[in-house]
Amino acid sequence: MAEAAYAAPVSTLVRIIRFTRDLWRLYALIVITAVLATVTSLAVPFLVGAATDTAAQAAAGSVSPSTATSRIVWSAVWILVAFMASTLLQNLGGYVGDVTGNRLRTMLSVRYYEKLLTLPQSWYDSELTGTIVARLNRSIAEIGNFAKTMSNAFFSMLLTAVSVLAICAWYWWGLAVLLFVMFPAFVWLTSLTSRKWQQLEAEKNTEIDIASGRFAEVVGQIRVVKSFVRESSELSSFAKRFRRTDALTREQSAHWHRMDVWRRTALNLAFFAIHLIIFLRTLSGDFSVGDMVLLIQLIGLVRAPIESMSWVVDTSQRAIAGSKDYFSVMDIAHEVWPTASHGLALPAPVANAPTISFTDVCFAYEPGHDVLHDISFTVSHGEKIALVGESGGGKSTIVNLLLGLYQARTGEVALSGHDIGELPIDEVRRRVGVVFQDASLFSGTIRENIAYGRPEATDEQIRDAARRANASLFIEQFTDGYDTLIGERGLKLSGGQRQRIAVARAMLKDAPVLVLDEATSALDTKAERSVQEGLDALMADRTSVIIAHRLSTIAGVDRIITLRNGHVDEIGTPAELAVSGGIYAELLSLQNAGSKAAKKLLARYDITG
Ligand SMILES: Nc1ncnc2c1ncn2[C@@H]1O[C@H](COP(=O)(O)OP(=O)(O)O)[C@@H](O)[C@H]1O
Ligand SMILES: [Mg+2]
Repeated sequence: MAEAAYAAPVSTLVRIIRFTRDLWRLYALIVITAVLATVTSLAVPFLVGAATDTAAQAAAGSVSPSTATSRIVWSAVWILVAFMASTLLQNLGGYVGDVTGNRLRTMLSVRYYEKLLTLPQSWYDSELTGTIVARLNRSIAEIGNFAKTMSNAFFSMLLTAVSVLAICAWYWWGLAVLLFVMFPAFVWLTSLTSRKWQQLEAEKNTEIDIASGRFAEVVGQIRVVKSFVRESSELSSFAKRFRRTDALTREQSAHWHRMDVWRRTALNLAFFAIHLIIFLRTLSGDFSVGDMVLLIQLIGLVRAPIESMSWVVDTSQRAIAGSKDYFSVMDIAHEVWPTASHGLALPAPVANAPTISFTDVCFAYEPGHDVLHDISFTVSHGEKIALVGESGGGKSTIVNLLLGLYQARTGEVALSGHDIGELPIDEVRRRVGVVFQDASLFSGTIRENIAYGRPEATDEQIRDAARRANASLFIEQFTDGYDTLIGERGLKLSGGQRQRIAVARAMLKDAPVLVLDEATSALDTKAERSVQEGLDALMADRTSVIIAHRLSTIAGVDRIITLRNGHVDEIGTPAELAVSGGIYAELLSLQNAGSKAAKKLLARYDITG
């Protein structure tokens, strides 16, 4: 059992070391200071042993008092030197340990983030932000602690133990054998406890991750929580999870310490035997008094490493659990698309190819449940098309596929004649500008948000984008103007203001293809009108795909594509579809009917009057 539990963990730790091999100089320095610190700490028992023998000889009259005095004083001086050296080395080791610990944390954090940013959208769909953060913090903290323990204590302990063993063997092999069996026996006894310990630790972590995930969601949407008066129930479910970790800790720690009593009892009995042997062999004249003092001190030195084996095992277990979590994320396959930074060249444009084309595209978020069935359509350069279909009918999914956020199950999505799977994905995303229903701004200034897709934009360009997006007037009314801080996700702005900044952001990105996914549907009529003006400016001379909630917006497009049950139902100009008897015609007549029942039916299409 213990072996099985240990084989995998050791390889996890080896993986951490390999993963951070750039730190090898620091690792080497840690080993060197540990070796030197051990040598100096081992010198002390010898010096004390020598002083004891000198004192015994002086008492027996075999050395003159003056020789004895000078020898003993020198012993004391050397002990001072050894202690000083050990002080310096310990601090040097501590410094290297701190630096290594932090470098390790930096390295692990940056790589984790780098990895997260390449993970496919589908991974994010089923993860909670707070959980991701909690997991990252825990695994990295625990790996860091482990590194610190290793550098500050483990190596010097191991070396001390090995050296003591060698020295004892020199004095009497029997002692060395006793000590030698003690180490593995103790580690084995410790590892017996480890499976249950790890299992409980994993349960605790799960509770904390779930609680943290919810915590971040609640804090991020505090307005909703407050408006539904759910503070106390959110708090109590948070507290319940944490209290469960209290209970689990009680069980875990009781188990650990109960076992520790047994382990140490075994250890104490072994030390009893060792002391007895040393005393008896001194009595029988095999060891001098000095030898006895030396050996007892050495045994004392080795006791600490053995006892702290359980602590080392404890830290390692946490690190193992942490690194498992860490690598479970690092091992997830990243987005399937190649990026330009990987040297994928842009293929030459295909003459007369439509700007966007979907050919027999089928897609499912979850295997076996196709959301899109054989979707085919094209949008030519400069054309504006509208997608119309029931709520949940797959309109946003088409946008997701166009952005390469998900991969079509079958069929082809192409931009200017090239399958997007063959284009660098960053290039695809650069070519498509999107304004979503939710503006999704970032904390920071208005300027930073407008320039998010083009950080190098000049002030003039930013102002121009804001002006065309119909945002400059309200921005200039703020005392700080473009330097106004807008709060997390832009919470300090109104919905209409946020959306106009999102339009300015898309304006500045200046992508040849534009997608508006219900860009104004979260707004009231007045805000909608001002945003719509910005959107009209944004759409001018651009290939556009519009998903809108107002038939009046749709009426102005070149062609409409209607979706029914995930299939393309009709494609045609607004005038053609108005009389074809299909979805669009139905919507128009419902709108004209103006009755309550009609409004209700319209709402199924995310359409308002
Ligand atoms: N990330 C997702 N994971 C699983 N199912 C999804 C996901 N996003 C959307 N869906 C499902 O796909 C269908 C189409 O959604 P969507 O394209 O957003 O519809 P809409 O036409 O309203 O934009 C819906 O049934 C929705 O439940
Ligand atoms: Mg949608």
